[in-house]
Amino acid sequence: GFSWTLPDHPKLPKGKPVAVVVLDGWGEANADQYNCIHVAQTPVMDSLKNGAPEKWRLVKAHGTAVGLPSDDDMGNSEVGHNALGAGRIFAQGAKLVDRALASGKIYEGDGFNYIKESFENGASERGAKRIRVHILTDGRDVLDGSSVGFVETLESDLSQLREKGIDAQIASGGGRMYVTMDRYENDWDVVKRGWDAQVLGEAPHKFKSALEAVKTLRAEPNANDQYLPPFVIVDDSGKAVGPVLDGDAVVTINFRADRMVMLAKALEYADFDKFDRVRVPKIRYVGMLQYDGELKLPSRYLVSPPEIERTSGEYLVKNGIRTFACSETVKFGHVTFFWNGNRSGYLDETKEEYVEIPSDSGITFNVAPKMKALEIAEKARDALLSGKFDQVRVNLPNGDMVGHTGDIEATVVACKAADEAVKIILDAVEQVGGIYLVTADHGNAEDMVKRNKAGKPLLDKSGGIQILTSHTLLPVPVAIGGPGLHPGVKFRNDIQTPGLANVAATVMNLHGFEAPADYEPTLIEVAHN
Ligand code: 3PG
Ligand code: CO
Repeated sequence: GFSWTLPDHPKLPKGKPVAVVVLDGWGEANADQYNCIHVAQTPVMDSLKNGAPEKWRLVKAHGTAVGLPSDDDMGNSEVGHNALGAGRIFAQGAKLVDRALASGKIYEGDGFNYIKESFENGASERGAKRIRVHILTDGRDVLDGSSVGFVETLESDLSQLREKGIDAQIASGGGRMYVTMDRYENDWDVVKRGWDAQVLGEAPHKFKSALEAVKTLRAEPNANDQYLPPFVIVDDSGKAVGPVLDGDAVVTINFRADRMVMLAKALEYADFDKFDRVRVPKIRYVGMLQYDGELKLPSRYLVSPPEIERTSGEYLVKNGIRTFACSETVKFGHVTFFWNGNRSGYLDETKEEYVEIPSDSGITFNVAPKMKALEIAEKARDALLSGKFDQVRVNLPNGDMVGHTGDIEATVVACKAADEAVKIILDAVEQVGGIYLVTADHGNAEDMVKRNKAGKPLLDKSGGIQILTSHTLLPVPVAIGGPGLHPGVKFRNDIQTPGLANVAATVMNLHGFEAPADYEPTLIEVAHN
């Protein structure tokens, strides 16, 4: 029958402390001036890359390798950390939503049945006669400035609905990083600004149309899609067209768990003290997915999320591995919640310690690009030196969080800071005779410019380069080493196209265990000698 007990690895010893370092947004690209990792002084990561070829390699971190619909889909932290921690490839939120829409199953589930009751009288194609869309401009997972085109498309779709007699309008908006989509409770003011615009119908900016809003607000100096201020759409009498009211059905159309949990709490919890909601409408609320399986939040949802069980963290803790995990707020859930298959909290409190270092809030990270890399590294170092842990796992957010700002100079500083943090951790590994595995969850800082098919930078109308604020499709490094690493260990070359999911079995091996049979194969082998 099933057993949590992992078999001993035939050749690799137990008891060596293992540091697992995830550089967020650190991919491998050609060396040019838009590759901030190349431009930055990164002697430690360079030495890993230029060291023994059997101890450094690239793995896939995007597309089907991490459970996304296609290889045109860039990786992200959620799917990346899921794969790193779970050791298998699970069809992810985006793919599950696509499937449920294509098959129509989304309209058959409990979630849709639940909201349907709010718009039963007056059915159109699927039901609703009055639709209000609260938009968030992105510029982070897509190009900055793409909001204008998206709003045009949406407006034209809504006008087609209006022709069919459905009262459909955009009701409010704002930039995702300033309105609504905070994560890990870094800054509740972000969610409050969204609540005020979306639910209460109140915002500092009022417009007659969303297109006018986005165009006008983008014309402000330093404005960008990620940080547009909140606005509401008003009618001729100046009244907001779409506050959320008693009896409404509300759907949060987002599949990313980390970015929706806070809003879901505000919409669903009767007891809530993070900000004054002023008015709490009686609504039927569903998420596109359930954003936190442990908190069962929200309680109703349209598509069932991937069920990620038997993660490497759970196996290891059940086999006695004592784990320390740390990052700063903006990525803390990545090495805990996502790593553990979207489970919040400890797997086993007696064997684990999770430390969150508060992120700077209220600033964009290009202003402080070193972020908390040093503090994270020092915590990891102390955890290693304490002798209390078998695994010390961190996420260094710099390449990603600063890369998303599109500020090339700041991203260069960010990459250097991350490299310095790696040094502190590797020095500690050296001191304790341990092992390290350094990798990344997806690319970002290694390419900051949008390119044509031939790889040439694209220019905008005024001849400037088109900055790429999103992740990339590029592979990421995996490097292993340290004095505790058995001298015969090297990367195998018989695995076709390994991805992040192959890392979990590798880490289990480094702890002296064999991975479960259904895990993606380990990246390493032990040479006979
Ligand atoms: C975000 O949520 O910030 C972006 O969508 C992607 O960032 P992450 O996947 O690196 O967290
Ligand atoms: Co990112």
